[in-house]
Amino acid sequence: MSAFRRGCGVSLLGFYWVLMEVWSIGAACPASCSCSGTRIACVDHERGIMAFPVLQSEMEMDNITDIYIANQSRFSSINDKDLHYYRNLTNLTVTNSRLTYVSRLAFQNNLRLQYLNLKDNNLSSLSWRIFRHLNISNLILSGNPLHCSCENMWMKLWMAEEAYTQDLKCIAEGGWRKPLTSLNLPHCVVPMATLSPSKVKVREGANVVLTCNTSGAPSPELIWNMTPLVSNYEIKTSGQVSELHLYNLSSLDNNCKITCSAQNIVGEHESSVVLDILFPPNISKLSDAYQDHHWCIPFSVSGNPQPELRWLLKGVPVTEGPYIFTQIHDFSEKEYHGCLQLDSPTHINNGPYTLLASNVYGKDQKTVEAHFMRNPFEGGTVTEPLYYDPTTDDTPLDPPEDRVAVYVVVGIAVVVFTGFLLMLVFLKFGGNSKFGIKGFVLFQNIPVEVVGR
Ligand SMILES: *[C@@H]1O[C@H](CO)[C@@H](O)[C@H](O)[C@H]1NC(C)=O
Ligand SMILES: *[C@@H]1O[C@H](CO)[C@@H](O)[C@H](O)[C@H]1NC(C)=O
Ligand SMILES: *[C@@H]1O[C@H](CO)[C@@H](O)[C@H](O)[C@H]1NC(C)=O
Ligand SMILES: *[C@@H]1O[C@H](CO)[C@@H](O)[C@H](O)[C@H]1NC(C)=O
Ligand SMILES: *[C@@H]1O[C@H](CO)[C@@H](O)[C@H](O)[C@H]1NC(C)=O
Ligand SMILES: *[C@@H]1O[C@H](CO)[C@@H](O)[C@H](O)[C@H]1NC(C)=O
Ligand SMILES: *[C@@H]1O[C@H](CO)[C@@H](O)[C@H](O)[C@H]1NC(C)=O
Ligand SMILES: *[C@@H]1O[C@H](CO)[C@@H](O)[C@H](O)[C@H]1NC(C)=O
Ligand SMILES: *[C@@H]1O[C@H](CO)[C@@H](O)[C@H](O)[C@H]1NC(C)=O
Repeated sequence: MSAFRRGCGVSLLGFYWVLMEVWSIGAACPASCSCSGTRIACVDHERGIMAFPVLQSEMEMDNITDIYIANQSRFSSINDKDLHYYRNLTNLTVTNSRLTYVSRLAFQNNLRLQYLNLKDNNLSSLSWRIFRHLNISNLILSGNPLHCSCENMWMKLWMAEEAYTQDLKCIAEGGWRKPLTSLNLPHCVVPMATLSPSKVKVREGANVVLTCNTSGAPSPELIWNMTPLVSNYEIKTSGQVSELHLYNLSSLDNNCKITCSAQNIVGEHESSVVLDILFPPNISKLSDAYQDHHWCIPFSVSGNPQPELRWLLKGVPVTEGPYIFTQIHDFSEKEYHGCLQLDSPTHINNGPYTLLASNVYGKDQKTVEAHFMRNPFEGGTVTEPLYYDPTTDDTPLDPPEDRVAVYVVVGIAVVVFTGFLLMLVFLKFGGNSKFGIKGFVLFQNIPVEVVGR
């Protein structure tokens, strides 16, 4: 009886939770909207909304890809944080409402936004910067009282044909409506940035001056962009021209991209150059041989132009061929990483290996001792190679094959041991005392001692 009551209590509690769940979702989705798994639609104009709905949990909002808002006479702005949690939003429609203001950071967190329909609202202007970080394929702006101002000039430039098909109009002074495509404003010119020289190919240690010349109206803001440089530098700007002085260029800045960008209300333009810094080879790593499928003597080397690599074994040049050859796996962290690969090496391949790296600016060399197999005519032990994964780091790991081997050995040991125990039991209780067991030590001292009489 009591068990039944407890069960009943539990199910009542469960029912209560279900009720709560339904009630709380209902409260999160406004009455005038419908919220399904991936879509929110608000079209009821009588019980209108003023802002985007906020759903119960972040996870629910993560699932939303489509928001559709229409006929909302009190909906007038999209602010910084309104769409913050709708990270997977791809389609947004706000139409036939009173949208007047879209903040510059409105879509900051909506990197997947592709389709944006703001048709038939009250927008008089909109900045290109709102969309700068996005990859919008459809932007619909028709039916808005757009001004024929410089701020809206980007629409004509960006939307080109689209502006025709949408028949975008703007309101000129005096209230005239004219096609946006015919908008022409004298002091409204898209910026240009020109970086010179367009190629930088110099020795390390050199000093270089990059000049960025910008144009556009209104006067654009000039911004230098670069990954953190190791070399010292100084920026000298005067008017529309800026100079970046680079001193004593470090080889560590080789391949760095330097960008100069010009921005104004009409748009932006950028120009960049990649530093090509010439320097002699440097072998930063030459490690012990390890066995993967083949044997590998791993190395990492830098240098620009790419160093030529050669090998010596005991001071004698190694002739590369199908069984011994140099392989570069990748170029990362500004270095070439690779192996001297050896197929089934024997004791005659043992010895000190020297890597010679050279280019037109200099050379470097390093030596490592490799020991592949014991010479059958000598004593000594086989060096157990450590497994080395060149793609991660120097940490030795058990190779997968070895791990499998360990499992197999352990498996066999368990089977043998079980059999052995069974045999003991059998011998002890089998009644046949032909073979007595004097004693055995298990668990602590292996091998097991079994003394027969
Ligand atoms: C989000 O969608 C996934 C798959 O469509 C679903 O399994 C999950 O329950 C949804 N999460 C929420 C909170 O709706
Ligand atoms: C939503 O976005 C997150 C990353 O922000 C992603 O992990 C998740 O799979 C996405 N969900 C859907 C339904 O696309
Ligand atoms: C919005 O309202 C108009 C009439 O005012 C109506 O024709 C239209 O269907 C409505 N749109 C939606 C999506 O409900
Ligand atoms: C988004 O809008 C595009 C264009 O109208 C449409 O083809 C697509 O099906 C929409 N996607 C979603 C998820 O609603
Ligand atoms: C439309 O926006 C202008 C400002 O750009 C504002 O003065 C006006 O009140 C708005 N109209 C409506 C109907 O919201
Ligand atoms: C932008 O979208 C187009 C198609 O809509 C796609 O081909 C392109 O790869 C996208 N670019 C980025 C940077 O996401
Ligand atoms: C910058 O460009 C303008 C126009 O292209 C040119 O007249 C001017 O001489 C340039 N200035 C410098 C410092 O290169
Ligand atoms: C240039 O930098 C190198 C190290 O990158 C330094 O050894 C050298 O002294 C520097 N030369 C000058 C002139 O500052
Ligand atoms: C060679 O590389 C090593 C490791 O990256 C570095 O410590 C060393 O300074 C480099 N030598 C030269 C001459 O650049």
